[in-house]
Amino acid sequence: MSSSTGSEQAVVVTERPHEHVALVRLNRPKVLNALSNALAEQLAGTLERLDADGVTRAVVIAGDDRAFAAGADIAEFASEGPHLEVWDRIWAVGLPTIAAVRGLALGGGLELAMSCDMMVVADDARLGQPEINLGVIPGAGGTQRLTRTVGKTLATEMVLLGREISGREAELHGLANRAVPAERVLPVALDLAKRLAKQAPHAVRTAKKIIARAFEESLHAGLLDERRAFYALLQSEDAREGIAAFLEKRKPVWQGR
Ligand code: HXC
Repeated sequence: MSSSTGSEQAVVVTERPHEHVALVRLNRPKVLNALSNALAEQLAGTLERLDADGVTRAVVIAGDDRAFAAGADIAEFASEGPHLEVWDRIWAVGLPTIAAVRGLALGGGLELAMSCDMMVVADDARLGQPEINLGVIPGAGGTQRLTRTVGKTLATEMVLLGREISGREAELHGLANRAVPAERVLPVALDLAKRLAKQAPHAVRTAKKIIARAFEESLHAGLLDERRAFYALLQSEDAREGIAAFLEKRKPVWQGR
């Protein structure tokens, strides 16, 4: 187990449950893992380090049993407010990420979960964008990612009225990949991460990047990007290995090239 920085309080803690999988835990339990600027900075730095370490192939981000995160730290609002630029660093991470959500995922907490590539939630988790109750709106992608994922109808209720949904509803609306009993959240998320870590690493990173384009660009531009990336990957060593392994009826051995 390692904390992310030396003298600062470790508000983000990294564990290595499996050779190629990192578990990153948000660690401000007394305030339901509210995302202070220090926490967001540590999280971005941790993810960047994992992204570049050459070993990690998938990351699970988790809170504790009461909260994934209850939003940006409201106590900081009066003084400085959330530093939103740090989110660009979180969104730039190339590794696949999985949010493991127990308890609350509110405001910036839900935005962080939606920034991940997959989401495993407890059946009884509480997900919402309650910023409207503070007189503001989501600031880290909530209006865009939620709307594109669950559709305008439900997103409008959640963002304009602060309606919360359960983990079970999140799965029904396509916001979560799996809703499971609370005690199963972490094992299921880690299992997905291990499965991701077995895939060809370069292809996984590329697929993640190109899927994200579907949110960022027109369909036409996204399809062209997809085609270019496909041709480029087809030339990679891993693709040659994967195709050869299929034809030879054996398991591929990925080199990450
Ligand atoms: C700072 C928070 C916090 C938050 C909870 N706490 N949420 N502190 N920022 N977002 C603190 C409480 O002040 C309290 O501290 C402790 O955590 C436990 O919370 P309680 O309120 O006592 O717990 P409970 O009664 O169970 O209520 C839980 C809750 C409520 C319903 C989640 O805490 C709540 O409404 N929190 C705010 C949720 C929210 O509005 N999130 C969106 C923030 S805006 P003490 O010291 O009293 O024990 C946002 C904008 C994103 O996220 C912008 C981009 C990043």
